[in-house]
Parts: sequence; structure tokens; C-alpha cells
Amino acid sequence: MKIIRCKDYADMSRKAANIISAQVILKPNAKLGLATGTTPIGAYQQLIKWYEKDDVDFAEVSTYNLDEYRGLSHDDPQSYHYFMRDNFFDHININLDNTHVPDGSNPNAEEACAEYDALVKAAGYVDLQLLGIGNNGHIGFNEPDEAFSKGTHCVDLTESTIKANSRLFEREEDVPRQAYTMGVQTIMRAKMILVVANGSAKQQAVYDMVYGPVTPRVPASILQLHTNCILVADEEALGMCPA
Ligand code: F6R
Repeated sequence: MKIIRCKDYADMSRKAANIISAQVILKPNAKLGLATGTTPIGAYQQLIKWYEKDDVDFAEVSTYNLDEYRGLSHDDPQSYHYFMRDNFFDHININLDNTHVPDGSNPNAEEACAEYDALVKAAGYVDLQLLGIGNNGHIGFNEPDEAFSKGTHCVDLTESTIKANSRLFEREEDVPRQAYTMGVQTIMRAKMILVVANGSAKQQAVYDMVYGPVTPRVPASILQLHTNCILVADEEALGMCPA
């Protein structure tokens, strides 16, 4: 795994955006795997600025998001569909028909997950997968488990994830208890993986991802086996890693 050490969140966001924009410049019809959460917001904002300056063009890009809460409609402000439009898609020239997020509004988990899997597979998987990392080492909503997951599936969120995500909801009870997520095997099929991490709360997870044993107890640790994985992280997140 290549590690790019950044001064702070702004530096991390700019460097991550640089890598994503290079991918789009090299391949205008790139397939991007995208993440929600707080960490990538700065990178999305930077990409929007470059789009406004005509430096990057998303007209032919298609996107595949990692995950979505089960039970939320697309226009629910807490849904990841809404998040992506609000933080990125509505501010660039992407064709919304080419943006994909698992369908949390479909209560039939098996059907929703199978459809999403078929979509990602038909696309030939993504060129670049952007990932955040959970405090417990999760990627997408793949929580610590006995085995690495494969395709898109429905998961019960752990207490730690519900607590971490509750900051974005009015009350902790409002956080959905289940989500549809791309599996670890699908994530690993991306040609390139770009992990972003900032802040001291991520120190342990980042250390375990890079230096710990490869184990489904730390889902992100499998990224050690990917041949083209880049970690862009700030000093705080890298606090436990050797300089
Ligand atoms: C988001 C996702 C999650 C987040 C992770 C970190 O689509 O799949 O794995 O990347 O929970 O979230 P933040 O960036 O909010 O710390």
C-alpha cells in the first residue's frame, strides 16, 4: 500500500481530488466507485472547484456508490442518494442516469443487492474506488466479521457504527439499523483503490489496516493485498504509523 502523508484535512482532500481528477483526465469515461461520510467531502468540494474552472469534465463519467441505508427513499435527506447529489452530483456536469447507489427504498434486500451486483459486474467493475475507513476498520458497511464478504448484501450495523453515524441524525434512534453494501470482494476488484482518512479517531483503524494481520476482524486490512492501493491520510490519522 502506498502511503501519502498529508499536513491536514485540506491537504488530504486536495491530494485525493488530484488523484481522482487524474483518473478522469486519463480516462474521460472512467467508472468511479464513490463513498459518503465526512472524510471525502473536502475532496468532492475540490473537484467541484476544478470543474467550475473547466479543469475536469464529468460528462462521460459513471459512478457506483458503496452503500445505502435500508429503508430510506432516494430523496430522504439522510439517504446516501441525497448526500451524493447534495455534496457532489448536483454541482458537476455528470449525467445523473450514470450515477448508481444501491436502492435502499427497495425493502426486498435480496433483489436490491442482486440488482446492484449485476450492475457493477456489467460495468466491468470500477477503475478507481474511493474509500473512507470506519473507526472499527470497516469499509463500505462491511463490519468486523468472521469472514470477508463477497457481493452486495444487507448488513446489520454495529453499535459503534450507529453511534458514529448518529452525529448526522437528530437522534440516535433515527439511524437506520441496516444497510445494503458492496461486498469486500467487489471492492477488491477495483483497478485502483484510494483510501482517505483524517483525524486521531482513525489512528488505530489506519494502523491495523496497514500493519496489522489481514483479518475480517479488520475488513480494511484486506487492502494490503490489493496491488494498487493508495492511502492518503493526515498526520493525526497516521499518528500510530512509523514516519
Ligand atoms: C460511506 C462508507 C463508510 C465510511 C466510513 C467512514 O459510504 O461506506 O465506510 O467511509 O464510515 O466515515 P467518515 O468519513 O464519516 O468517518
